[in-house]
Amino acid sequence: MKTLGFTFMPLKKIKAIRGMHDITPDKSGHWARLEKAVAAVFATYAYREIRMPIVENTGLFHRSIGEVTDIVEKEMYTFADRNGESIALRPEGTAGCVRACIEHSLLDTPQKLWYNGPMFRYERPQKGRQRQFHQIGAEAFGYTGAEVEAEILLLNAKLWRALGLEKSISLQINNIGSSEARAAYRQALVDYLNQYRGDLDADSQRRLETNPLRILDSKDAATQQLLEGAPALSAFVSQESKEHFARLNELLAAGGVEALHNPRLVRGLDYYNDTVFEWVSDELGAQGTVCGGGRYDGLVEQLGGKPTPAVGFAMGIERLYLLLEAHDFAALPGSDAPGAYVIVADPAYQAFAFEVTESLRSALPEFAIMQHLAAGSIKSQFKKADKSGAKFALVIAENEVAEQTVTIKNLHTGEQSIVSVSKDTTELAAALK
Ligand code: HAM
Repeated sequence: MKTLGFTFMPLKKIKAIRGMHDITPDKSGHWARLEKAVAAVFATYAYREIRMPIVENTGLFHRSIGEVTDIVEKEMYTFADRNGESIALRPEGTAGCVRACIEHSLLDTPQKLWYNGPMFRYERPQKGRQRQFHQIGAEAFGYTGAEVEAEILLLNAKLWRALGLEKSISLQINNIGSSEARAAYRQALVDYLNQYRGDLDADSQRRLETNPLRILDSKDAATQQLLEGAPALSAFVSQESKEHFARLNELLAAGGVEALHNPRLVRGLDYYNDTVFEWVSDELGAQGTVCGGGRYDGLVEQLGGKPTPAVGFAMGIERLYLLLEAHDFAALPGSDAPGAYVIVADPAYQAFAFEVTESLRSALPEFAIMQHLAAGSIKSQFKKADKSGAKFALVIAENEVAEQTVTIKNLHTGEQSIVSVSKDTTELAAALK
């Protein structure tokens, strides 16, 4: 652009980091209502909220998630702070939650906790997969029986119903036994797959050395076919683990929760034993897992606490949001639209308008009021009121100011009435209910 002889160079715009997204106002209302619905379900199961820092010592994740997992090997945001200490943006919430519970001696009695917040993984972004994403998770400490898994899965099922998603999400469960059982199985699987090493996909060949159980998750058709003849994990699982799994299935059936036994389900984090589960949807494309979790009885001790049984799960809010969006947010309680739009015919009446709206906001604390704060004809203000989605327009014009009244128009039915505010706004508030 040439202006008065010098060249104006527009500055390059700075954009958000790849895979990290703003939650713009058109989305934040739905987002907040989703969080509110989840919090309400947690409250009915007597889970209490815990808030942990977003950064932790890198070693915490190495010791919990596992050195040879995808997360620790290639997805962590790790940096040295000004002291040279290695710090990581948390890739998940379980490790930090266990660290906090040990640090604050919370585990002398059973605890049922939940958390909500951003997590970070350096993955290839695609639909339903970000580098900054959000999880709502829960962890229950101190319970050995399958009852706690059953209650957690009932809680999940209740939540899907509250969000109108019960037909879109289904449950897969497995029992992966103890770490000893898995070590024996790992050897048997490696012995078997080594015979076909050359036929495995490249990722699985690498995993044969590092994390062979993850080969069970491979999406490669040839690898999947080879796995048909592989030894089964269930053959290595103890009688005790089998009984635990049977009890869980019994409780789920009694609670009306349908669960598919997927013997290949192993999960991508190392800390699990016995029960693992995933809630999956086929409406999301490749990133179909909405929620995952399981039992992890060894982790508390592994991080320096007293041996404490534990079970937990986390769900991806972005994935839940995508599902809700596909259903037009129909089942999400509440709405973004203001309850009333206040039309002020002339700026001279704004002081009176403020008196009315301030009093009304005190009388109806949950009711959102959008007061017109600029100039504009009554007609254009009515258009804005319609566009806002408000049910009521409250008109303040010359007559209203003179008579100390407000004209209410129901924008859905067209019905109109005049209410006195000369004493207070009680009558007006009642008319808006
Ligand atoms: P996870 O399976 O790694 O488990 O993650 C749980 C959920 O977070 C996934 O099912 C998915 O919905 C969401 N998620 C994961 N990565 C991404 C991503 N890059 N973009 C969007 N969403 C994502 C855990 O994190 C365990 N801490 C769960 C747990 C709690 N186990 C026991 N307690």
